[in-house]
Amino acid sequence: MATIAAIHDTPYYLQLEEQYGAHNYHPLPVVLEKGSGVFLWDVEGKRYFDFLSGYSAVNQGHCHPRIIDALVQQAQRLTLTSRAFHSNLLGEFSKYITEYFGYQKVLPMNSGAEAVETALKLCRRWGYRVKGIAPGAAKIIVCSENFHGRTSTIVSFSTDPSSFRDFGPFMPGFIQIPYNDLDALKKALKDESVAGFLVEPIQGEAGVVVPDEGYLAGAKQMCEQANVLFIADEIQTGLCRTGKMLACDHEGVRPDMLILGKALSGGVLPVSCVLADDSIMLTIGPGEHGSTYGGNPLACAVAIVSLQVLQDEQMAANAERLGAYFRAGLEALQSPYIKLVRGKGLLNAIVINHPDKEAAWKLCLKLKENGLLAKPTHGDKIRLAPPLIITQDQIDECLAIISKSLEVLT
Ligand SMILES: Cc1ncc(COP(=O)(O)O)c(C=O)c1O
Repeated sequence: MATIAAIHDTPYYLQLEEQYGAHNYHPLPVVLEKGSGVFLWDVEGKRYFDFLSGYSAVNQGHCHPRIIDALVQQAQRLTLTSRAFHSNLLGEFSKYITEYFGYQKVLPMNSGAEAVETALKLCRRWGYRVKGIAPGAAKIIVCSENFHGRTSTIVSFSTDPSSFRDFGPFMPGFIQIPYNDLDALKKALKDESVAGFLVEPIQGEAGVVVPDEGYLAGAKQMCEQANVLFIADEIQTGLCRTGKMLACDHEGVRPDMLILGKALSGGVLPVSCVLADDSIMLTIGPGEHGSTYGGNPLACAVAIVSLQVLQDEQMAANAERLGAYFRAGLEALQSPYIKLVRGKGLLNAIVINHPDKEAAWKLCLKLKENGLLAKPTHGDKIRLAPPLIITQDQIDECLAIISKSLEVLT
């Protein structure tokens, strides 16, 4: 029977998941049952700082009262119409988000991967119907070490074997180039059947890889010259995480297609979308793409408030200021076990320097013991990305926890 409050201890819930759930994740052994702001609580009542924020879905903080209020109010009224009918909220949401980001149209979906799929389909459609690429020949340029989700098409252009191994046959039509390499992009753009360039402004899953200054602006300019769509996957980097509303804003770049997800609902339910202008968006007509839950009234109500809260509480400015403060604090630890500190705003990572391959995992276990939750990515990197409402005093407390926890590596 499902219960809301936890009535068992940690091992009980770990065993249930192990026995009855697919083994497609390797979580830290902590069982959470409550969240508020920057904090999470486990089933034993222990409190933690959340330094993952649901992979940047919870930028606004856990259970933000205004977002939860919108959720509850709307849930009591109307949750789903499907797109067979109109709702009073889809139009309101569409107007709000397109004006917010300065695009003519939005196409709402649910998960991030679905929004990426949508952008890929729109890009190919545009390639055939507007650019005039020969039927079936459209190509999309992507970057190595990318992470855009888990569908069969998306893993077709992943360079991470754990994402694609034994999941073929793969979708053709993608050109992989190194990230942060404008020369490689220039070469790839010589192919006239290229319709788009899909890029993460910062590669989050790869371990918060920040490209050189000027990369995004240079890439955008090259795409424009080649009549190729610049498609920014801001699912992880967007919505104030890096210290601006969008990571592309750091370089004044306006993507031709903007992909959003995660924090678009403040971590409350899956809401994603693609934003673009009419010349791209209207290449898809009725019956040619969609999703039962995409643009549902509950999602629309939650997304509008999630966006309002980001602005009202000036979360971009907080992320910018405290991100710089946090990175300076990490550098000041001068730990021989931290090879590198990198990031932008409150999307940061440390790269661990230790002969033990399990060092990052062990450090995360120690951080957990000391009251801070973070997760390694690609073995030696630990992403540190708290909700954007964190305060300077809390950052100080967290730096002390990190410093103390590093002792486990001696
Ligand atoms: C940049 C990026 N794109 C796409 C996705 C996929 O989103 P979802 O897990 O909601 O499908 C992620 C998830 O981490 C992401 O970081």
